[in-house]
Amino acid sequence: MSEILKLNSPAVFIGKQGQDGVISFGSGQPDLPPPPEAFAGINLKRDLRYGLIQGEVALREALSHEYPGSTAENFVITNGASEALDLIFRSWGKGGKVLLPRPYYYSYPPIIEMAGMVPVYTDMIEGRIDLEDFKKKVKECKAVLINSPSNPTGRVESIETLKEIERITQELGIYVVSDEVYKDLIYERENYHIKGDHVITVNSFSKTYCMCGVRVGYLWSSDKTVVENVCEEKTHTSMNTNLVGQDMALHAMKAPKEYIKKQQLIWRERRDFIYQGLLSLGFELWRPEGAFYVLPKCHNARKFLSVLFQDYKVIAYLGEWFGAPDRLRFSYALDVKQIEEGLNRIRDAMKKVSVL
Ligand SMILES: Cc1ncc(COP(=O)(O)O)c(C=O)c1O
Repeated sequence: MSEILKLNSPAVFIGKQGQDGVISFGSGQPDLPPPPEAFAGINLKRDLRYGLIQGEVALREALSHEYPGSTAENFVITNGASEALDLIFRSWGKGGKVLLPRPYYYSYPPIIEMAGMVPVYTDMIEGRIDLEDFKKKVKECKAVLINSPSNPTGRVESIETLKEIERITQELGIYVVSDEVYKDLIYERENYHIKGDHVITVNSFSKTYCMCGVRVGYLWSSDKTVVENVCEEKTHTSMNTNLVGQDMALHAMKAPKEYIKKQQLIWRERRDFIYQGLLSLGFELWRPEGAFYVLPKCHNARKFLSVLFQDYKVIAYLGEWFGAPDRLRFSYALDVKQIEEGLNRIRDAMKKVSVL
């Protein structure tokens, strides 16, 4: 019998995609190609001296067209959404609570704690924010961190919920950090971009443009102090974001809108395939409305993950890393053939571990 792996985080699996017959439902990185336009941005003979800490002006200007009423001054270009999140919380200085809907993206609690702040949790209902509980807990917090579409639940918050969060936090004078890295990956409707001086939006080129490894993301804020403080923090840590990556991002934005629409069709087909597949294996799960994750219930999740990995070369992530014990998270950033093969292996592994 396989040993039960003592995995505390996904670190060991990140970057392992499709090697040695492994089927990875692990890392949330699109397997689809970036738009060809992105590659036109690679100019290794460009000026490679230090760049502006805030990010290249041309890229910030291009982004400002996607955020009505904005200018280049409202953006900071970062090493992925990850750095944007890290800088925001650290720039506030130590102390204060941050409200976090649970299940959450696994990096949120460490980012908040490393900034010297304290995460306070509000449990979701059926993978979406419980507004009643949210309203009770938000009063004691300095900020909230939301993520719709959600990693790991795959759910999208309703426009009413987002507007209510926008309103309550404005009234209370509380910051909302809105992680919208999956904003272009919604199957049900358009993204609702929450607004206000108290809103800080975090976004990325990793998912929309399939450029995870290039590490370009950004934050948007209409509050000058937020932008200044984040730049101050970045000056003493990573300094400017990779210049060639920023050029690639700028060129990727020139891709026709069909690029994103075509991807959505592919993701939708995969969503339907894995959702139906896991349902037919007997799993209980929420139907994803955005992003590319499913989070089925799973008894003996750690044991099952160990068997899946060691005996069947299938990678999945433990729900407990996302604050969802007794669940497994599957990323469906794989073509349908591989998802089918993965589901077959899961079916076989289910004969060894009781998961339902
Ligand atoms: C919700 C969420 N936020 C942020 C990130 C990090 O994105 P980036 O590659 O832009 O750092 C991820 C990556 O999976 C994510 O799922």
